Amino acid sequence: MSKSKRKKMTVPRFVAKKAAGEKITMLTAYDYAMAQLLDNAGVDSILVGDSMGMVVQGHSTTIPVTLDEMIYHGRMVTRGVKNALVIVDLPFPTNHLGIEATIAAAGRVLKETECTAVKLEGGQEQAKVIAALVSAGIPVMAHTGLRPQSVHTMGGYKVQRDEEVLLQDALSAEAAGAFGIVLECIPRGIAKTVSEKLTIPTIGIGAGADCDGQVLVINDLIGLTTGYVPSFVKPFANVGENIQQAVSNWSDEVRAGSFPDDDHSFAD
Ligand code: KIV
Repeated sequence: MSKSKRKKMTVPRFVAKKAAGEKITMLTAYDYAMAQLLDNAGVDSILVGDSMGMVVQGHSTTIPVTLDEMIYHGRMVTRGVKNALVIVDLPFPTNHLGIEATIAAAGRVLKETECTAVKLEGGQEQAKVIAALVSAGIPVMAHTGLRPQSVHTMGGYKVQRDEEVLLQDALSAEAAGAFGIVLECIPRGIAKTVSEKLTIPTIGIGAGADCDGQVLVINDLIGLTTGYVPSFVKPFANVGENIQQAVSNWSDEVRAGSFPDDDHSFAD
């Protein structure tokens, strides 16, 4: 579809894609320039993920990320987006601070970033929080399976295989009013069962092809990750190497005195 014909993605349109059998695309972005590129490329949704703590800030987990930082990055992203549905993560431990505190935090996220929805980690045990946010007019995407904010409780970044728990988490999130749910690092067969039992879309990351949509951390997709890359990631570009090569070429020319040449200087 041409760029001019694209409609702004809303929560109802996002949900309707499942019934229409259309796969949903979601990618993370953390700043204006990347958000603009992803939106121009036609991605359905942009997640300002707290993975920002790892791929932008260099932490080893998402736990240090603050609400103010999520808002700061969320604002940059929404400025770059015309059509995609922008969702901002609630950072640890925002949604465990009680219903009023969570509504206050999520309210700040919506007001200050002008995003459309928030995402929070949890299923069954977050059902009351999800319901309260939704009744306050705040669309919620849930996130189950591997929940990086609970990395210490889970004993590491491990595939989650308890089908009963995963199903209950997903069904509870849907019943509480979530409009979608991220399934992270779960076996493909379980993701298929969960996706079939829900009417809201499932968005998989390391959860196989039978989810209703897919999400990836943008740095992983474009080959801009330094360090560990999960096995479910397939890089579609090699931007990290391209950047290093460009910087090395520029440095060589500066050191040799061949840049800037006359074409890149102002005449007297
Ligand atoms: O923080 C994040 O980027 C996420 C995605 C990996 C789903 O939660």
